[in-house]
Amino acid sequence: MRIKLHWRLTFIFYFVFILVLLIGYFYLVPQLRVYFEHSLKNNIKNQLLLDKHLLEKYYLDEDKFIEEADAISDRIGEKLGVRVTIIGREGVVLGDSDLSKDELKDVENHLDRLEIKQAEEKGFGISKRFSSTVKKELLYMAVPLGKDNSLGFLRFAIPLRDIELFETKLKRIVFLALLLMLIFGLLLFFSLSSYISKPLLEMIEIAKSYAKGNFLIKPSLRLKDEMGELAKALSIMSEEINNKIEKIEQDKTSLDAVLSSMFEGIIVTDKNGEITLMNPSLKNLFSVTSFIQGRKPIEIIRDIDVQSIVDEIIEGRQKFVSEEVKINLPEEKILKINGTAIIRDGKLEGAVLVFHDITELRRLEKIRQDFVANVSHELRTPISGIKGYAETLLEGAMEDRKNLREFISIIYNESNRLANLIDDLLDLSKIESGKMEMILRPLEIIPIVKKCVNILENKAREKAITVNLNLTDDLPKVLGDDKRLSQVFLNLLDNAIKYNQQGGSINISFFVRDEFLQVDISDTGIGISEKDIPRIFERFYRVDKGRSRQLGGTGLGLSIVKHIIQAHRGQVWVNSELGKGSTFSFTIPLV
Ligand SMILES: Nc1ncnc2c1ncn2[C@@H]1O[C@H](COP(=O)(O)OP(=O)(O)O)[C@@H](O)[C@H]1O
Ligand SMILES: [Mg+2]
Repeated sequence: MRIKLHWRLTFIFYFVFILVLLIGYFYLVPQLRVYFEHSLKNNIKNQLLLDKHLLEKYYLDEDKFIEEADAISDRIGEKLGVRVTIIGREGVVLGDSDLSKDELKDVENHLDRLEIKQAEEKGFGISKRFSSTVKKELLYMAVPLGKDNSLGFLRFAIPLRDIELFETKLKRIVFLALLLMLIFGLLLFFSLSSYISKPLLEMIEIAKSYAKGNFLIKPSLRLKDEMGELAKALSIMSEEINNKIEKIEQDKTSLDAVLSSMFEGIIVTDKNGEITLMNPSLKNLFSVTSFIQGRKPIEIIRDIDVQSIVDEIIEGRQKFVSEEVKINLPEEKILKINGTAIIRDGKLEGAVLVFHDITELRRLEKIRQDFVANVSHELRTPISGIKGYAETLLEGAMEDRKNLREFISIIYNESNRLANLIDDLLDLSKIESGKMEMILRPLEIIPIVKKCVNILENKAREKAITVNLNLTDDLPKVLGDDKRLSQVFLNLLDNAIKYNQQGGSINISFFVRDEFLQVDISDTGIGISEKDIPRIFERFYRVDKGRSRQLGGTGLGLSIVKHIIQAHRGQVWVNSELGKGSTFSFTIPLV
């Protein structure tokens, strides 16, 4: 069992106190006894001397003295409460306060008694002895009487028991006093030690609350001693810890803010490879909802590549790992993972993995690569045609006038196609790089449409296609670039003619939708299958390459349309049914 401090203090004080009292007791009592005996002896001696003086003065006649000796001793004895003996010069006991006159005759000669001998020699004698006369242990004191002991000796005796009784009484009194002091001492020391231990208990309580994380309590002590110093130190400590905690919390908040706002995913593990942190971005990427703390990456992400990067680092094989990993989430994603060892004081503490989602980057890269391949391919076709026919002509076909005309017209068509292609490519690259000049201003759409229909009139007539323009009154003006909008109409109308049936028709309608003008261009042509619809706005994508090429297409028209409309903050889309026809729609903002 734990003894509380203030009890312990009480016991220590009390132990010391008892020790002091015991020492006092065993030293004091004998001392007092000695003092008492001494003063008793002195008293008796003084009384003895006083009586000697009085007797000597009073009794000048020896016979009278002898006569009255017994009466004298009785009187003095009664008065002083001691045994008084008067002894004659020859040692005969003349009077004794304890004996009657008759008894005196049987008392032996006292001249050899030690106190008498000393009185005779030195004028005062003292001795302790058992008295055969009164059968008691006695203290004797004697003086000579008269000149040259002419009157004999006067002797007082007190029983030693008186001194012993006094000692017993004294012991009892001192013992009682000690007992009282012990009781009061216990109370005193208990309150004293509680007074001493109280500030310490307060400090313990405060330290306990600090341990629990509550640093707001301050010691109330204002003492100037060591306790006060301790209280001050505790107070300063709590303030400093509080400041540090605040600083850590601030740091944590900013770290959290950084981690949450980061686009990149982050995992931190400890040296056992168990996750300690995972930012929201990564949780989103892998749809993590479970508890992550202390678990292995493989349990959360279920990807062996990520786990092996962590293993590589925490097993100390690599300090830095950079890997591209393909993950099905379930759609395929390409992640670039950079793993770094966390090293503190030369010791491996864990690993940090940063995930960059580079799926889009890789997709764009692929589109660019495909584009370059496509462009080269598209360019090669007309060029090899031109080259082939020119060669054939040079090799002799020139001589045949019929061939000559046909071949040259093929060369002419091919070079037209080449020119178209190059024009479209240049337009596209200009739009994409933002270098195409667009001047948006309020304009009426109908005149632009009419102009474009006129341009394509011949082409439509060749296929016996009728173009219907559904005009509505008071069509609001749009905000656009007339040259670029013409390009949009030309491309869409050109397609509507090209991919239409012989004798088909084209309908052009306008609707005001919120702050936009929607234009629908419907044809009665071949239509587009559902699987092709999402792709027809891609560069070089054509449903039927051979047919498009034969019709002089480049596969870039719809891309250019899409870019121009988007530059006007509008949208473009298509509804189509295979074999029945298509409706291309786009919106442009009203003024
Ligand atoms: N009105 C339409 N009807 C059917 N298919 C069309 C229509 N317009 C476009 N397409 C399809 O979309 C492809 C892409 O069109 P576009 O970019 O204008 O290229 P191009 O006209 O040079 O072939 C065409 O090759 C064709 O397959
Ligand atoms: Mg086209």
